[in-house]
Amino acid sequence: MRANSLVELDRAHLVHPLASYRGHEAAGVRVLSSAKGATVTDAEGRELLDGFAGLWCVNAGYAQQSLIDAATKQLSQLAYATGYFGLGSEPAIRLAARLAEHAPGDLNHVYFTLGGSDAVDSTIRFIRYYHHAIGKPEKDQFISVESGYHGSSTSGAGLTALPVFHTGFGVPHDWQHKIPSHYAYRNPVGSDGETIIAASVASLRAKIAELGAERVAAFYAEPIQGSGGVLVPPAGWMKAMHAVCKEHDILFVADEVITGFGRTGPLFASAEDGIVPDFITAAKGMTSGYVPMGAVFLSDRIYDTIADGAGDAPIGHGQTYSGHPVSAAVGLACLDLYENGLLDNGRMAGNRLLEGLYSLADHPLVGDVRGRGMLAAIELVTDKERKTPLPAEADAGRRIFDRAWANGLIIRAFNQGILGYAPPLCCTEEEIDTIIDRTRMTLDQTLEDKDVRGALKD
Ligand SMILES: Cc1ncc(COP(=O)(O)O)c(C=O)c1O
Repeated sequence: MRANSLVELDRAHLVHPLASYRGHEAAGVRVLSSAKGATVTDAEGRELLDGFAGLWCVNAGYAQQSLIDAATKQLSQLAYATGYFGLGSEPAIRLAARLAEHAPGDLNHVYFTLGGSDAVDSTIRFIRYYHHAIGKPEKDQFISVESGYHGSSTSGAGLTALPVFHTGFGVPHDWQHKIPSHYAYRNPVGSDGETIIAASVASLRAKIAELGAERVAAFYAEPIQGSGGVLVPPAGWMKAMHAVCKEHDILFVADEVITGFGRTGPLFASAEDGIVPDFITAAKGMTSGYVPMGAVFLSDRIYDTIADGAGDAPIGHGQTYSGHPVSAAVGLACLDLYENGLLDNGRMAGNRLLEGLYSLADHPLVGDVRGRGMLAAIELVTDKERKTPLPAEADAGRRIFDRAWANGLIIRAFNQGILGYAPPLCCTEEEIDTIIDRTRMTLDQTLEDKDVRGALKD
């Protein structure tokens, strides 16, 4: 089918995630038609380096034969098996066991979902159930962090702290509360790590005091805030927040939907942060985006309390596709890749990526460079001293994305002038260097824009 007839069909029928529907109709879809390794090809034959791994998910790169083989073999052997009625399938059981082996501490129990949003949503339900089971149903208040993203389910969207996910949707709910982000580049307390940690600890303590510790059920945080603009907390931040929660008997959820599966280096960022959360949520890299799958990891204590609390009664939480055998088979093949070199390559490529991005720090538009492993960002400003964001007319989200695209590079261009990077972990050094070269070209072109030039400090 010709690309332009696809554009018409898309315009007429396909509802896109997080899009201005009218804006998208006017712009028209860009159709991707094939991909291999870190390179995707669009319907016009243009090849692009995917510096964002789809949506921070294609960690193994495209057209990985072992993943394709795992899926096709499982499709012909057993395309579906429910986990209801006491049934199961070998891939789901084996994947849960292998994940439990890799997960930090006693996070030994895995509930499979279809992605990140329903993983977060499942934690809300498990947490409520847990507190009922221990006889404290009044512990029903939830805290998360400004600029955080925890998906767009009816409940999870209220833990998310990005206004566009709230407006018009009636969230956050009155049981969902926020504390300020650690956002080091623009933190009112300054950029010193210890000071930021102390401020976040004080904010969390104050919020707990305001609500009453006996009412607070759980605290949610991403090891690195992804959709909020790749905001990297100072080392020790997660540990400090975890300690406050422990002190007040508040459950701690590490939302590792982006950071899990090698994105920051290890299989779980929580391991690097030195914490064993009560729950981890994961998705994306677990199946490298080839097939949908997410997971909730539950600690022994949480699992046992829920199990004993229910006694012989069933726990009313489930989905038709929980533990889907095809997704699980791909998950197992992904784990093989992670264990046999993909994590190592990701670490190597991540060092190169950060080195490359730091080499852009002296560019007139680059105010901040940050990242960990293969998760990084640069933040653009027109005045480095004042940290003045690009002018609104520069329409950074659209213009820079389009420009990078024209230069053969896919990145995430956030509206506030932040460029996000999350390349496949399989990238070669040459591919990383190309990402940097094409970024530099994109920045140089942006520097020539009239509105940007006009706003630049002389
Ligand atoms: C930290 C975090 N949690 C949850 C989600 C939601 O995941 P999904 O889009 O698979 O529903 C995302 C998605 O980007 C995420 O980054």
